[in-house]
Amino acid sequence: NHTKPHILVIFGASGDLTKRKLIPALFDLYKQKLLPAQFAVLGVSRTELSDEEFRNRMTEFLPEEETHQSVVEEFLPKLYYQPLATDDGYEYPILRDRLATIAKQNVIAENYIFYLSTPPKLYDVIPANLASVELNKSDDGFRRLIVEKPFGTDLASAKKLNKKLLHYFDEDQIYRIDHYLGKESVQNMLVTRFANGIFEPIWNHNFIQHVEITSAESLGVEERGGYYDQSGAMRDMVQNHLMQLVGMVAMEPPVVIEADAIRNEVLKVFQSLRPIKEDDVASQVIRGQYTESHIKKELVKGYRQEKGVNPESRTETFFAMKFFIDNWRWSGVPFYIRTGKKLPTRVTEVVIHFKKTPHHLFGTSQASQQTSNQLIIRIQPDEGILLKFGMKVPGAGFRVQTVNMDFHYDDLADTHLPSAYERLLLDCMQGDATLYSRGDAVEKAWAYVQPILDAWQNNPDIPVYGYPAGTWGPEVTDKLIEGGSWRYPC
Ligand code: BG6
Repeated sequence: NHTKPHILVIFGASGDLTKRKLIPALFDLYKQKLLPAQFAVLGVSRTELSDEEFRNRMTEFLPEEETHQSVVEEFLPKLYYQPLATDDGYEYPILRDRLATIAKQNVIAENYIFYLSTPPKLYDVIPANLASVELNKSDDGFRRLIVEKPFGTDLASAKKLNKKLLHYFDEDQIYRIDHYLGKESVQNMLVTRFANGIFEPIWNHNFIQHVEITSAESLGVEERGGYYDQSGAMRDMVQNHLMQLVGMVAMEPPVVIEADAIRNEVLKVFQSLRPIKEDDVASQVIRGQYTESHIKKELVKGYRQEKGVNPESRTETFFAMKFFIDNWRWSGVPFYIRTGKKLPTRVTEVVIHFKKTPHHLFGTSQASQQTSNQLIIRIQPDEGILLKFGMKVPGAGFRVQTVNMDFHYDDLADTHLPSAYERLLLDCMQGDATLYSRGDAVEKAWAYVQPILDAWQNNPDIPVYGYPAGTWGPEVTDKLIEGGSWRYPC
């Protein structure tokens, strides 16, 4: 256990993320004895709560079973709470003193991690306020800053935010979260590619026809209509999560498995993306919005009827795009990405479509045409890997049929699949930024998608296609893939 004693300060502690994700992830780490003995969490937000009240609130998402109760009881006293007007610099001496007291009481060295789980408008305010009481730097202990998404709303705001953060913290103190990188199956992509002799030699334009990445959700915007209507699928999922997946699929082997070596390779992928011209947006990018429909006989609201959403909104709840990576490995290979809310199922997967054999020995019937090999990396749920290949149908002749070789993480008995937040929090505690986004890559990803945002803004004629809730998005999406079709996992 390389985790040094420290205090984790969570700003926005009365919010949803804290109780749904962060505290349960910390509890899981605690249960596995991955947290140092000297450790505390200080929840900070405007709401007036005592330590005790905060602890009670946090139990909602902790295990209720009898067998876990003793661990829950040991864990809860590690949680503290400090009400604070986080946007008011004059209040920060209170925070500094409270931290010093908790550190002293529990004999914790003054190592602090500040987690910004607040509304984004505070992302630059809090670091400045921390700096005003010298909580941003120390010669004795570490100071780290975790920043939740969204990191900016466009290229200009992301640059501005980076600049402000870098004014108070150094790049190696800043941990920009993209929780997709914390997913076990996303990290496994590196192992699949770089620990096996059989995949990497064919992982290029000579053998790969096209690459498809889907992140589908069956839920709609739920209670987040207000936020989502300002954001849309592009800002909510594409610029961050899907681009990071593209980075993992497409990068070159890093020199070593270390933060900068890996992040350099991701950056290179982003640098190689063929820029999309505003004029090409209408043909290369499809946006859609779910409309009212019946799912299993039940009437489901359309996006514009959701709470917090403008009834005339043109915000996209579906996004699909075709693009290219102009480098040696991927020359000429189309990449397709797709994401949306209220699709038929929840699934995130990467599909590598391999080229067909140069010559069709076994006839030209529909059945034998389908034998193009696919490697499907299922990110979630049912994490695993599926390889599709052609096999002879037993009996007379040479009929070919596609069969599966399928691995499920579930088959690994007793393996604990850590949640993304569990992994990411532990990494930050250990000073490992490998699975966090670096400032330059975040900006590069924004720079890449900016012409799309601009085209939508400047050209209201670019359609927002409707799609009935519970379907795979606008029908035109099918035409995006030349000579092929999307996979429709169920
Ligand atoms: C979040 C988005 O970042 O990712 C949500 O804001 C989305 O809108 C979520 O639902 C998806 O995450 P996951 O881990 O469920 O795929």
